[in-house]
Amino acid sequence: MKFFIDTANLDQIKEAQDLGILDGVTTNPSLMAKEGITGDQSIIDHYKKICDIVDGDVSAEVISTDFEGMIKEGEALAALNDQIVVKVPMIKEGIKAIKYFSDKGIKTNCTLVFSVGQAILAAKAGATYVSPFIGRLDDISTDGLNLIEEIRLVYDNYMFDTEILAASVRHTMHIVDCAKVGADVMTGPLSSIEGLLKHPLTDIGLEKFLADHNKSNS
Ligand code: E4P
Repeated sequence: MKFFIDTANLDQIKEAQDLGILDGVTTNPSLMAKEGITGDQSIIDHYKKICDIVDGDVSAEVISTDFEGMIKEGEALAALNDQIVVKVPMIKEGIKAIKYFSDKGIKTNCTLVFSVGQAILAAKAGATYVSPFIGRLDDISTDGLNLIEEIRLVYDNYMFDTEILAASVRHTMHIVDCAKVGADVMTGPLSSIEGLLKHPLTDIGLEKFLADHNKSNS
């Protein structure tokens, strides 16, 4: 399973990159705003900085909701760097735009996906990634993980190439569960990734190893 970090914070992206397990980054307009990145040029510069830090795919979301606007924005974003994946919302115009980008060899991430039907459309349009938002489904007492399982089943039935990018991952157990049901990628905050490191028996065991070593080497 590929690991993407879901943030526009450069320090956190660097920290995840330094761990050596990072495969890419996802951003969205809310995450960019959270970092205070405003204005067209600053937004473009920020995407370039992210691409300089990581080796993998970097999702950059279009703001337009009409076909022409999405194409214009998406082509400009894709021209910034080969790592850029144009993130397009799951709306009618978005599906048309994904098909257009796919025909042109531009990578896409279909975002704001909440149903199997939407995921089928994204795959039919040729999206590189489909982003089901599992945390936001959990927030409304609907099983987000079940959506990943169902999309996996359908995509495998038809051997769709679109990768399932489990998004809106909120905590460590989401990552483990997504891996169990076969998500191709997960995107989550740094804290959810670092949570995978933790086990009290590891800490206790290491403390004992070091204490024994020090005792017999003093
Ligand atoms: C996906 O690409 C989104 O950026 C993100 O995962 C949304 O997560 P949230 O529901 O925690 O805002």
